[in-house]
Order: sequence, then structure tokens, then C-alpha cells
Amino acid sequence: MKKINILLSVLIVTFSIAVYAFAGHEHMVIPYESQAIGEKTTMPLPAAGDLRNHLIGHMPYKKWALWPGKGEQFKGTEPHGSLLTNYVNDIALESIKQKKGMANNSIIVKENYAPNKKLVAVTAMYKVKGYDPEGGDWFWVKYDANFEVLAEGKVKGCLACHSTVKDNDFIFTDKVK
Ligand code: HEC
Repeated sequence: MKKINILLSVLIVTFSIAVYAFAGHEHMVIPYESQAIGEKTTMPLPAAGDLRNHLIGHMPYKKWALWPGKGEQFKGTEPHGSLLTNYVNDIALESIKQKKGMANNSIIVKENYAPNKKLVAVTAMYKVKGYDPEGGDWFWVKYDANFEVLAEGKVKGCLACHSTVKDNDFIFTDKVK
């Protein structure tokens, strides 16, 4: 009887250590991106810093597809700059092709160049479910050429102008619906 008790205790202790170790181990796995609003995803938060990590760290936007039908440094319209390059992530690319509006987690990164081909700013739109229903759930951000943050959030200036194409999911470049 005593032996069984000892055996049981040993088993319980071993089991506890195993559970503790496993739980502890799980805590040590630091996800490189945070939990986006509402659902657990591998997407960044709607915040300029987190998005920057995503764009120049984990999912380098320079490796993304260009906006279909648009080349690099195409001649753009004001206010963004003379020469523009639009990069789109996979989700945005698929949405643009399907023309059903932009899906959640779409990211569009626009590089804005001066006439002398010098990068002046990077402006991006990132669609986050529930972030801003009135503004198409777009998170807006403007970085300078070194990715320092110039504006972010529900930026009034961006919204005022892009709202004129609200029916096209706030997108100017092409029909997405
Ligand atoms: C005065 C109007 C205006 C303002 C203000 C403005 N945009 Fe735009 N935006 C445009 C136009 C026009 C285009 C299309 C340019 C082109 O392709 O020639 C565009 C294109 C874009 C695109 C590519 C996707 C699309 O909609 O076609 C992004 C991303 C973007 N703007 C982000 C921003 C951000 C971020 C801000 C605020 C910091 C901003 N824009 C402010 C007019 C504006």
C-alpha cells in the first residue's frame, strides 16, 4: 500500500512538472505580431509601429506584387507625388482581381516619389475588421522615406479625400467592386 502511495505521488509530481513545463514553454513563444482587433490573426495591429515591423521586417512589402496593371514609378496624380509605386499584399491582390471590394487584412503600400525619383513618403492603407466602420475599416498611415511616422489612424486628411470614392471602398487607383 505504501509503495502504491509513493508511486502515485511520484506520478503526480512528474505530471505537474510536465504540465508546468509545457505551459511555461508556451509562454516563452513570443508571437512576432500581436493580436489584431476581434480575431486572432498573424496580422499587425492598426498602429504605425506594428505595421512598420510587418512591412519592413516580417513581410517585406518590396517582395509583394505590384498593383495589377500598374508598373513601378508610374505617373501619378496629386497629392501623393509625381511617381507612384503601389504594392499589395496577397489578400489585397486577390480582392482587386475579384472586384468584390477589399477583404479584411488587405494592405496597400504606396511609395511616393519626387520627379527626380527620390522617395519622399510612404502612405499605406490597412483594412482591419471593426476598426472604423464609417471609414471602410481602413487604418491610414503616412511614413517619411526613413519610415518615421508622420500620421496614423483615422487620419482626417486621408479620409476627407478618399471618402469621395467611398463607393469604391475608398480606393482611387482602380475599380475594386
Ligand atoms: C486630396 C486627395 C487625397 C488625399 C488627401 C490623400 N489621398 Fe491617397 N490617393 C488619392 C488619389 C487621387 C490616389 C490615386 C493616385 C494615382 O494613382 O494617381 C490615391 C491613392 C492612394 C493609395 C493607393 C490606393 C488607392 O486608394 O488608390 C493609398 C494607399 C493612399 N492613397 C493612401 C493615402 C493616405 C494614407 C493618405 C493620408 C496620409 C492619403 N492617401 C491622402 C488622393 C488623396
